[in-house]
Amino acid sequence: MFTTIILGAGKSTRMKANKSKLLFNIAGKPVINHIVESVKGARSRNITCVINSQSKDLKKILIGSKIEVVVQKQLDGTAGAVKSVLATKKPGNSTILILCGDTPFIKDSSIKKIVNKLKSSEACIGTVELDIPKGYGRIIRTKNNISRIIEEKETTLEQRQIKEVNTGVIAIKENLLRKYVGLINNHNSKKEYYLTDIIKILIENNHKVATFKFTDELEIAGVNSKVDLVRLEQRYLRAKAESLLESGTLIRDPSRTDIRGNLHVSGNVEIDINCVFEDEVKIGENSTMGHNCYFNRCKIGKNVHIKPNTIIFGATIGDNCIVGPYARIRPGTVLKNDSHVGNFVEVKNSVIGSRTKINHLSYIGDAVLGTDINIGAGTITCNYDGDKKHKTIIESNSFIGSGTKLVAPVKVSKGSYIAAGSTVTRDTPGGGSLTIARSKQVSIPKWKNRSIKGKK
Ligand code: UD1
Ligand code: MG
Repeated sequence: MFTTIILGAGKSTRMKANKSKLLFNIAGKPVINHIVESVKGARSRNITCVINSQSKDLKKILIGSKIEVVVQKQLDGTAGAVKSVLATKKPGNSTILILCGDTPFIKDSSIKKIVNKLKSSEACIGTVELDIPKGYGRIIRTKNNISRIIEEKETTLEQRQIKEVNTGVIAIKENLLRKYVGLINNHNSKKEYYLTDIIKILIENNHKVATFKFTDELEIAGVNSKVDLVRLEQRYLRAKAESLLESGTLIRDPSRTDIRGNLHVSGNVEIDINCVFEDEVKIGENSTMGHNCYFNRCKIGKNVHIKPNTIIFGATIGDNCIVGPYARIRPGTVLKNDSHVGNFVEVKNSVIGSRTKINHLSYIGDAVLGTDINIGAGTITCNYDGDKKHKTIIESNSFIGSGTKLVAPVKVSKGSYIAAGSTVTRDTPGGGSLTIARSKQVSIPKWKNRSIKGKK
């Protein structure tokens, strides 16, 4: 059992922005959400995040995720942040895990391994070897054992060559943390209380400090600036796309595919360039995704063809459907098997029955469509009266002529024909009948000369 402190009160100066770096989105969600998910996944008993007094938006997110929040009044360094939390809690004898809130991709499995190291030691530091260790605290070892951490600003030229760095992850017995954190001083170039100085104090007092070496740099990379944010996101997304490609999904260009959430694919799926996947997306076998498509919280069936420039958000697409190009499928929509939604068609909160086709320039909102319906180009469900949304029902085997307006609430009964250009305001009888609801066409002769008086 362990409890966690996430450090997130820093000024984020290097971010050059007016909000905390933990609020910036990376791979589809804020940096802080990634780390909170990992800590929860590792089964931390309690999670507290330290923030500064300006971080109102950060506080909102944390409270939403049921994380305790403590404000660090004086931003005097990472040791100061830890002291602010300890001051709010009754002393206990648990293990405390401390993480920097700016390392989004740490895995829960690594957290567990670090905490487990405390079965045979009193503290454990996560470290990693980096080819370019710039910006990180360096691990100083004496006869193989860690003896201290030196922040980059305090290193000598020689120490700066050390490639093993501090990841910012530490697990420590609570009694030792409480005993020694107060002994850390701020005699350094930043005049800050560096939590990392606790290692030297522990070693000097004969406590056993272990290390855990991360092998995947991505896990511990910190987001300190916009350059870090963008480069880290690119590496992460690239790695995700590559791994999907290696496992058999034909991703045309992993450097132009953004899997920001969780993408679950079955066999023989093809994904063309510039597709973005957010939140949870499932794709069934033999389906193809054209270029420039956006997917968010959706389920796509087998043998589906999503044509280029399509947006699918919060919808379910059945088997053998064809969607797009340039279609927008909005939340609450279900396309049943074998249906087609084509060019410049928007569908919202509607059910589209099997084999029904809406192929061009239409808006279908708050509607239920049966099977085997043909919706002509430019058909619009007028679902909003300025106050409330109303439902349109189109029963199976109906044919809706081009340019029809269906003023909801309205029902088109089974087997109806609607003449092109109709404005339908009442239910139709169906059963093979044709409904025409448009003004009669008249032609006025000599219209051209109407205003030319006196002229022959
Ligand atoms: C820190 C470590 C460094 C490590 C690196 C890994 C220290 C002193 N240094 O450096 O050894 O290699 O992380 O990413 O710990 N924070 C507070 N209160 C403060 C100052 C900072 O809560 O007064 C928070 C920040 O919001 C941040 C975390 O602590 O989430 C680390 O601070 P940051 O400024 O990013 O430290 P680094 O220079 O990255
Ligand atoms: Mg940092």
